[in-house]
Amino acid sequence: MTSQANLPLHHRVSIELGDRSYAIDIGSGLLDALASYAQLPAAHSAMIVTNETVFPLYAARLQRAISSRYAVVHTVCLPDGESHKSWESLNLIFDALLSHGCDRKTVLFALGGGVVGDMTGFAAASYMRGVPFVQVPTTLLAQVDSSVGGKTAINHPLGKNMIGAFYQPQRVVCDLDTLNTLPARELSAGLAEVIKYGPIADMDFLDWIEAHIDALMAREPGALAHAVKRSCEIKSWVVGQDERESGLRAILNFGHTFGHAIEAGMGYGAWLHGEAVGCGMVMAARLSELLGGVDAAFVERLTRLVKASGLPTVAPVIDAQDNLGRYLALMSVDKKSEAGEIKFVVIDRPGHAVVRSAPDALVAQVIAESVRP
Ligand code: NAD
Ligand code: GLY
Repeated sequence: MTSQANLPLHHRVSIELGDRSYAIDIGSGLLDALASYAQLPAAHSAMIVTNETVFPLYAARLQRAISSRYAVVHTVCLPDGESHKSWESLNLIFDALLSHGCDRKTVLFALGGGVVGDMTGFAAASYMRGVPFVQVPTTLLAQVDSSVGGKTAINHPLGKNMIGAFYQPQRVVCDLDTLNTLPARELSAGLAEVIKYGPIADMDFLDWIEAHIDALMAREPGALAHAVKRSCEIKSWVVGQDERESGLRAILNFGHTFGHAIEAGMGYGAWLHGEAVGCGMVMAARLSELLGGVDAAFVERLTRLVKASGLPTVAPVIDAQDNLGRYLALMSVDKKSEAGEIKFVVIDRPGHAVVRSAPDALVAQVIAESVRP
């Protein structure tokens, strides 16, 4: 384990998107700091959108901090869980906005993990055709990925994140202290999205994660601050070039084609998104090896790191009768599919990824191998 004693604890990363540019602030104590919310759009009212788990932990503190900017601060508390990333929950936000008479300047604050963030962003994109919103992510996964870049969505029973919009927040406030209350399983899930940035974009970062995995698992502030910062920098670099995923941005979905099939196949919520992505990355790395982009040592290295992060590396059987058929059916509704052809993010050389289809026989081989312990 490498010492992280001298790593800085505060960072600001910018996301450059012309008039939709914004800052991602990363550090300790940011939730309560008035400066975190300086220069946000002026409005009479704000609404905190959170869930029943995060509400008792952090909502009062956020409410106090933003009350100096907004005369009225409402709160809506959603049921917790991926299975509630739905029309019904989205409607609870609209019900609250309308019943409180919120206008088109009302600022929404997403306080929670990726589920709350994705739903709040979609509500903000569509309420009165668009109101400003701020991301206050409280899971590692949300701080390193979902709160950044403007993808918002809800799930449909036939596919994950299928209904949504691209809509950028005004700011992202990542208070690392909130990660102290996160269950260990959720911390591990977040590490999956941290790890993914290495193989697709930055092998030096992969080296760093390997060297600091114990510090990350122990939630050492300097290590977390660097992991969130570097992840956001890489995501910002990608999104800055391809905001609406016409090409490059799809590399951020490394491990997600297999992962989404696992999540949907097991029933949303059975495997955490990050757990499915962790296992999915191992599967995508093996596919990359079969396609000649990386060697077996690379796959072993990634598998070791995923395992060291507390994530599964053996894929579940999602259909006892026809496991391959079920994986293929679920993967074909992935958003990267074109005319029913499944696309995968594969590593064509360490630190670089491409999106491509793959021969059925190789995909079948990966799935068959991956379900064996
Ligand atoms: P989540 O939002 O379900 O949060 C995980 C759990 O942790 C929940 O039970 C939540 O209530 C709880 N929690 C949140 N903060 C806490 C805290 N500080 N202390 C204690 N408990 C806390 O899950 P997630 O992993 O944050 O996000 C997963 C979602 O993000 C998925 O729906 C996925 O599709 C989405 N996602 C979106 C993007 C994007 O670009 N928009 C990227 C990656 C993932
Ligand atoms: N999480 C993938 C993306 O934001 O594009």
